[in-house]
Amino acid sequence: MLLAKIAIGDLNAHDLDRGFLETLTSLSEVEIPLEEAVKVLRNRLRAGVFTYVARNEDRPVGTVTLLVEDKFIHGGGKVGHIEDVAVHRDYQHQGIGAALVRHATEQARALGCYKAILNCSDQLVPLYEQLGYHHHDNGMRIDFK
Ligand SMILES: CC(C)(COP(=O)(O)OP(=O)(O)OC[C@H]1O[C@@H](n2cnc3c(N)ncnc32)[C@H](O)[C@@H]1OP(=O)(O)O)[C@@H](O)C(=O)NCCC(=O)NCCS
Repeated sequence: MLLAKIAIGDLNAHDLDRGFLETLTSLSEVEIPLEEAVKVLRNRLRAGVFTYVARNEDRPVGTVTLLVEDKFIHGGGKVGHIEDVAVHRDYQHQGIGAALVRHATEQARALGCYKAILNCSDQLVPLYEQLGYHHHDNGMRIDFK
């Protein structure tokens, strides 16, 4: 089974053009030159944004992001925000997405978060429910041109 060969770890600069940016195209268009992507990674590391990748023989085939927010409320507790879950189209439906979200959730817990939250489409509710998440409130957005 492929999942047994998958290793989850932190994103590094070598991953960017070895499949990471291509993997993200499952989620949205990726129109960023490699040099810019290196800068984005540097900024994310500085800002404490955790980017995890699932590697198949050193090639990234999936990713998830975790942002940890320090709150003023809840006694200064921390909230984990899970973002940008994506699995390369050739590797979907093999358990990699679930393994990534489980990993980010465990990291949020290990980093002291009292909860982890994410937004998803109705279609993906079963994916997150099977990982222990439940429906709560509504997602809202505003787009800036
Ligand atoms: C959503 C996504 C990350 C799932 O990754 P994956 O590796 O294919 O998912 P898994 O194999 O771990 O699936 C686990 C469960 O999630 C559910 N699931 C996964 N993809 C699904 C889909 N497209 N529609 C409905 N349910 C889905 C199923 O219940 C599945 O369990 P099953 O295999 O027993 O049926 C992947 O399809 C993807 O990259 N999609 C495009 C980007 C995206 O929508 N990201 C999510 C943002 S919230």
